[in-house]
Amino acid sequence: MSASLLEALGLGATNSGTYLGDGRWSDATGAGVLRPTNPTTGEVIAEVQATTDADYETVIARAQEAFKTWRTTPAPRRGEAIRLCGEALRRNKDALGSLVALEMGKSKAEGDGEVQEMIDIADFAVGQSRMLYGYTMHSERPGHRMYEQYHPLGLVGIISAFNFPVAVWSWNSFLAAICGDVCIWKPSNKTPLTAIASMKICNEALKAGGFPDIFFLVNDAGTALSEKLVDDRRVPLISFTGSTQVGRIVNEKVARRLGRCLLELGGNNAIILDETADLKLAIPGIVFGAVGTAGQRCTTTRRLIVHESIYDNVLETLVKAYKQVEGKIGDPLDTANLMGPLNSAEAVQQFLASVEKAKASGGTVATGGEKLDRPGHFVLPTIITGLQNSDEVVQHETFAPILYVMKYSTLDEAIEMQNGVPQGLSSSIFTTNLKSAEKFLSAAGSDCGIANVNIGTSGAEIGGAFGGEKDTGGGRESGSDAWKVYMRRQTNTINYSDSLPLAQGIKFDL
Ligand code: UN1
Repeated sequence: MSASLLEALGLGATNSGTYLGDGRWSDATGAGVLRPTNPTTGEVIAEVQATTDADYETVIARAQEAFKTWRTTPAPRRGEAIRLCGEALRRNKDALGSLVALEMGKSKAEGDGEVQEMIDIADFAVGQSRMLYGYTMHSERPGHRMYEQYHPLGLVGIISAFNFPVAVWSWNSFLAAICGDVCIWKPSNKTPLTAIASMKICNEALKAGGFPDIFFLVNDAGTALSEKLVDDRRVPLISFTGSTQVGRIVNEKVARRLGRCLLELGGNNAIILDETADLKLAIPGIVFGAVGTAGQRCTTTRRLIVHESIYDNVLETLVKAYKQVEGKIGDPLDTANLMGPLNSAEAVQQFLASVEKAKASGGTVATGGEKLDRPGHFVLPTIITGLQNSDEVVQHETFAPILYVMKYSTLDEAIEMQNGVPQGLSSSIFTTNLKSAEKFLSAAGSDCGIANVNIGTSGAEIGGAFGGEKDTGGGRESGSDAWKVYMRRQTNTINYSDSLPLAQGIKFDL
């Protein structure tokens, strides 16, 4: 299965991890080898050569060269390039979705769904390419006109995570491309194959359409090359998706050179269930949010804050639902399964360590809490009760399917718990009470970048701006006006009169 899938996507047993432009992949070796494994079996899928320092310099030089022509290509024409990428992804959705499932470990349906997000953002970017709007202003001076415009920024470095190995790149690169930028992608070293496949699909479509190179790829076996990219003054924007711990370092480094950063870091997302919640909606929303992608989305539901009057019933219903999921854990490429493995052996260790920590803090495992005795990195979806929101393990994001279920009595208390963590990505309330819903969405409500009513915390659509506050890093990508981060802004004042009046009425007679 895996060999024919790789072949269908232009991959082999050994692969170059560096796209140099002009249809050329580097044949250089010596910078280390990446060995992405299939998390279902623990076996190496294929090898990828990391990028050498010399090739990195070639990529930067080619990208700078490409930027000179791309920045003056009309934006709607740039949109046409991304339309072709979207069409190519449509044709390859099944194969690329399967490769995402194989290399990352998410279910086939979610792998296909991730490729669908790429297609959706491509469509969005095509439309946006005709809407890079700036305001016009009325000047205070006669015979003057003021307006603002958005110009391409330059090179964009995209450092993405293993959990959304292809969609996050496309959210950034497709918008950056219609904004006139050239992108250099450094994918997670756990998922280089999906990155190479995505680059092949898009770059071949660009080439066939007569477009220049706008997407480059580098791979890093360790962290030295990534640090070089982050420190590189020739790259004005670094878009980083990953842990808060690493994001903080990226932010400091980029700030030191006064570059621009777009950070998408950890979440510790909660759902509040009030006493009026419609459980027919809430229970599937919670289970998908907590168990989907084996708890490895940044938007995964990690905390459930339940009104005391319905707590016992909700817990019992959830445990039953989790037992049903237990029967559908396995190879993510088998469409009968709802949950695949964790991505790595370390992730299983972190899962087990958090369960132990939760027990040591007085928590009770209501279901799950164990790894499965079989090859691959499988664990049981887990519910833990009896902890305080302030307990260290609850405050921390463990990238695994662990849900902490807690009780509350007043809505104010629930909102305080929901906000009472360092992270601020996604949040939701299930309620049929209009006042509770509006309070949750008000300035005194959720402090997260995403706040939902009667849907869960994960599964955000590409049309909205995606990102969060506090330790989540403050960045926004994908829809709404997130495109602006990929452009530089310029205010222009034009004098078409025969005199030179100064602003603020200042007189300066010579
Ligand atoms: C992520 O987990 O890195 O909201 C992104 C969602 C997806 C994106 C998640 N659309 O679950």
